[in-house]
Amino acid sequence: MKTEIYQIDSPDSEESRSVLARAGEILRLGGLVVFPTETVYGLGADATDETAAARIYAAKGRPSDNPLIVHIENPADAQKYAVTGEIYDRLAEAFMPGPLTVVMPVKQTIPSTVTAGLSTVAIRCPSHPVARALLRAAGVPIAAPSANLSGSPSPTCARHVAEDMAGRVEMILDGGDSEIGLESTIVKIEEDESLTLLRPGAITPAMLTKVVPILHIADAVLSALPEGATVLSPGMKYRHYAPHTDFVLVDGTPEQVLSFAKEQNGKVGILCYEEDLLFFERNFKADRCIVWGKKNDTPEQARRLFTLLREADKLSLDLILAPLPPKEELGMALYNRMIRAAAHRIVHL
Ligand code: TXA
Ligand code: MG
Repeated sequence: MKTEIYQIDSPDSEESRSVLARAGEILRLGGLVVFPTETVYGLGADATDETAAARIYAAKGRPSDNPLIVHIENPADAQKYAVTGEIYDRLAEAFMPGPLTVVMPVKQTIPSTVTAGLSTVAIRCPSHPVARALLRAAGVPIAAPSANLSGSPSPTCARHVAEDMAGRVEMILDGGDSEIGLESTIVKIEEDESLTLLRPGAITPAMLTKVVPILHIADAVLSALPEGATVLSPGMKYRHYAPHTDFVLVDGTPEQVLSFAKEQNGKVGILCYEEDLLFFERNFKADRCIVWGKKNDTPEQARRLFTLLREADKLSLDLILAPLPPKEELGMALYNRMIRAAAHRIVHL
């Protein structure tokens, strides 16, 4: 299949409007369109079309038991596809459009290919102007997982999308670099009106509890190692967001990381904060240091993480050591992605 790629700078220009109209038509006819969102790029199909949704799984190589997120133009549209209620209304008022996905009981308007047979559906109303313009042009809700091949890092620019998806989709809309760089926060509304955090993101626990007081954190979010263990057994969980190069998290001072790096076999790379770059360049090898942003600039680290994971693979290293992020607020989202990229391999120095 030939994939058309278009850059959309301002969705309101005449040229963009005609591209978006075509993209909308492709979706209504059961095709696949990749589009930018404020979190990561999405691989979209008509969420009400069973066959179209099934094509998403094939294009990504995604296991069919992993459900898709349904994107809507307006928060109020959710009630066509899910059983909403007061808690949803409060979340929508506070955070939509934006990087929040809400899991609620599904209605029959959404086929089971989208929900992977679950009794719930995940709903998200993105804020990115191109995503919103596409939803408007399509006139249908858009089922979309991240637009990467299953297992590799989510794409945060059109070049990454093209690496994974060229030839597998009808169209790619290029809307520049993703502003957030990590996928949306996912919460489930429970029967007792509490929330369960299923995936941390830019809408942080503190922001959520201001709106809904009780928030449980699902075990898998931070599932790390047993107390006192130095290295968690490799391959305990299948890898996610994973670079092909071996990736291990190291918890220690720059001096400890340096001596650990020197003890390892093969070509070792170090992912480090800007503040520690000079130290590693001088004492290790300048061409094997990958800068991740300033130590306290979590938003910048979030924006760059998936790009770094993709680029790291091009350096032909055998092993990459990366710092363990703090688990607080946006750091929780980073921590969650990093432990998966490392297949839970953490070394406490
Ligand atoms: O930021 C995002 O959420 C991006 C953009 C494109 O919107 N999408 C995204 O989709 O990250 P995906 O498919 O890569 O991740 C969706 C996650 C999966 O882990 C899936 O298991 C979960 O949402 N999910 C979907 N429906 C669910 C449901 N009914 N219950 C629980 N989890 C669900
Ligand atoms: Mg994904």
